[in-house]
Order: sequence, then structure tokens, then C-alpha cells
Amino acid sequence: MGYFRESIEKAKPYEPGIQPAAAGVVKLNTNENPYPPSPEVIKAIAGISAEQLRRYPDPMGGAFRRAAADLNGIEPEWIMCCNGGDDLLRMAFSAFCDKKRACAYPVPTYSLYPVLAKVQNCRAIEVPFDDEYNLPAKLAKTGAALTIVCNPNAPSGTFIAAGELASLADELKGVLLVDEAYVDFAQTDCAGLVRDFDNVVVLRSMSKGYSLAGMRFGYAIARPELIAGLMKVKDSYNVDAVAIEAATAAIKDQKYFKENVEKVKTERTRLTEQLRNLGFGVPDSFSNFVLAQCRNGGAADVYEKLAGRNIFVRYFSYPRLEDKLRITVGTPEQNDKLLAALKDILATEPSQL
Ligand SMILES: Cc1ncc(COP(=O)(O)O)c(C=O)c1O
Repeated sequence: MGYFRESIEKAKPYEPGIQPAAAGVVKLNTNENPYPPSPEVIKAIAGISAEQLRRYPDPMGGAFRRAAADLNGIEPEWIMCCNGGDDLLRMAFSAFCDKKRACAYPVPTYSLYPVLAKVQNCRAIEVPFDDEYNLPAKLAKTGAALTIVCNPNAPSGTFIAAGELASLADELKGVLLVDEAYVDFAQTDCAGLVRDFDNVVVLRSMSKGYSLAGMRFGYAIARPELIAGLMKVKDSYNVDAVAIEAATAAIKDQKYFKENVEKVKTERTRLTEQLRNLGFGVPDSFSNFVLAQCRNGGAADVYEKLAGRNIFVRYFSYPRLEDKLRITVGTPEQNDKLLAALKDILATEPSQL
């Protein structure tokens, strides 16, 4: 007998995008925000006292909970803090799924979901998106205990209207988790669904819109009964004292946040247009990345050539993604470097598009 449970032996670990250490790298591979967090965050971290570090943190992250509740126009009992959105996903699998209780999600999507399903030893029902990334009708009929819709979806960047997700929530017998890790860059969100449906959990991340990927902070929005159930599977102190201060300062500085998001959205429009001019197929994105299709294949090769120039984007060798590159929207300078490199690569080997 091996040391590990059979499902762990069989599981392939999640592969995060690489974090190159070299200086001068253009890093557009893990959807980090290219701009720093609010100066209020740095002040908050500098103000941490030795006493705050000596003691355990507030197990519920009360200060953040209140700030997030105010922002979303709900009571704090409707919010649960987590150690990044990924922590909430792990909790959801643990709380809702097991061998007899499957999960379901449309694909292609965030590659962590199947990994968590394997770890939890539950069946993962993958329902293909059509080419336009419309919500598949079959998703409502899987009988899964947990259905996840990533919205905006990663890696397509596409968006499904709240009304469609409301119909899905209505039809489902199990829980609908709407993964809104990238929603800060969309026009609307689905948080309102939690008022009407007792089976909806909305995931938020502070990593993208608030530039806090290194801090690890996210939160759930759901009715208090669902939050109370999820709390049974959370680590006692899942968010640390420094992260609570930092994330609270970030979410309170809405002016900085909005300006930052607008800068990313402006560059997203420019990057999309320029990539289309170069011949890539790029659907409109509602997130902080774009999915660029190399029409004649060759995406893996373009990826390697960019990496050789210290420009990192993301390539997934998964079905329907082998001919595409996922590119995080960077600063204007980073995007210019990427576009110039692509022009150069394509000029020497145009067949790659
Ligand atoms: C679709 C999606 N959901 C959730 C997450 C989790 O984000 P974090 O744990 O950084 O909050 C990510 C991170 O990249 C993501 O892409």
C-alpha cells in the first residue's frame, strides 16, 4: 500500500505559470495586475505592530468582512474571507463534493477545478462550451452537487450575463459557484444572485483588480446559511493579520482601484486591436488577459520564441487551447515590447500564424 490515498496518487498537481526571477523580464503569464497596490496598503502593512503578530488573527477577518459587506450592500454575515480565491474553491469541494457528489463545469476553463476534483475524489463532469463560449444548456442537467461557472471565464475572457446564471441557479439542485476572480474588469457582476438564490456562492479575489496576488486574499459572498456551512471546513485562521490589514486598506481605496482597472481596460482594448491587426483571432475580453489564437497553429512555438526573448505568456497544451496564447494585459511599455517581439517573430516565420 502506498502512503497516499489512491486519488492523490493518481492526481496531477496544478501547474502554476512560471515566476521567472531574472530582471527585465516581461511577465504576462499569470494575470497579475501590472500596477502596484494602493499606497494605503503599503501604509497599512508598515503600521503592523509586534502585538498584532504575536496574537492569532481575527478568525473571521472582521475588518475586511465589514468593508466588503459595505461595498456590496449586504451584511457581514454574507461574506467569508479566504486565503485567496483558491482557498474558497478548495473549501467548496470539501464541503459539497465526495465520491457520490459530483462537480460540473463548462470547459475550457480554470485548470485548478479538475485538480481539486481529483483531490476530493469526486467525479468531474466537464461540459464543453461552444465556440462562442455560451453557457451550455446541458450544465443544468448534470445532477452535480457543485456546479462552477468561471465568469469572466479563464482563459477565454468571455462573460455570461447574470440573467442566464440566474436561470441556471434556479434549475440546479446543487450549489452554483460563480468564480468572479476577474470580475473587476467586467462591466457587471453576479453578486446580486445571492439575494434571490440560496444555492449561489460568488468567489472574489483580491489578486487581480486590487494587485494583491502576493498577499493571498479573497472572499465569498453567499447567504449566511451557506457561509456558515463553508466555515465548517475552513482553517481556523485562514487569513493572517497582515493580509487582513492589507486587503482591508485595498478594498477601502475604491478611487485607486477604479483608476487602476480603467488603465488595464484601456490597454486591453489596444492590445486586442493590435493583436487582431497582426492576424491573431482574439475574442472580446472582460478580464485582464486576452486569448489570442494563432490561426495556423504554432502557438507553442511562438510561446517558446517569446520566452527566449524574456517575454512570458501562458500556453496550455489542453484540448481547444493548443493553438492559443493567453496574454495578461500589461503596462503600455510591456504590451509594446510584446507586440514588437510578435511582429518580429511573425516577420521571419509568418506561417506560425
Ligand atoms: C479563474 C480563477 N479563479 C480563482 C483564482 C484564484 O485566485 P487567487 O487565489 O489568487 O485569489 C484564479 C487565479 O488565477 C483564477 O484564474
